Amino acid sequence: MNRNRHRVLLALLLGLVMGSVQAAGDPVAGQKKAQACAACHGADGNSTVPLYPKLAGQYRDYLEHALKAYKTGERKNPIMVGMAASLSDQDIADLAAWYASQKGLYDTPEPTAVKKP
Ligand code: HEC
Repeated sequence: MNRNRHRVLLALLLGLVMGSVQAAGDPVAGQKKAQACAACHGADGNSTVPLYPKLAGQYRDYLEHALKAYKTGERKNPIMVGMAASLSDQDIADLAAWYASQKGLYDTPEPTAVKKP
């Protein structure tokens, strides 16, 4: 009985760890996916047109949140609701990781890899 409980717990923990690994965005994959966004937001997220917000250097969490909000319709903008509709959670994570790793709005881009001091 006790052993089974441990197994269940272990499975749950593993699931959590794997889940968070999968949810972490891959900036390299994101760069490829961002081709669909470049016309408006610029190739690296530094849009030169004021109408289109700069995505480069924004916080990854914020970008993910914004894209999910367009997808659910919580944030309403006809262009972006259409753009986000077909994005999977993985696409969103990858795109957010890519733009967050670019130099832009804030001058401290998120490191794509952990650097040793
Ligand atoms: C046709 C032009 C166009 C394309 C293509 C486009 N966007 Fe946008 N995007 C906009 C506009 C306009 C806004 C501002 C909308 C608003 O005010 O909510 C915006 C806003 C955003 C925001 C919110 C930024 C902020 O600071 O809150 C994100 C994130 C975003 N876009 C990501 C993307 C991604 C990722 C793609 C590609 C999958 C993409 N966009 C493609 C026009 C575009």
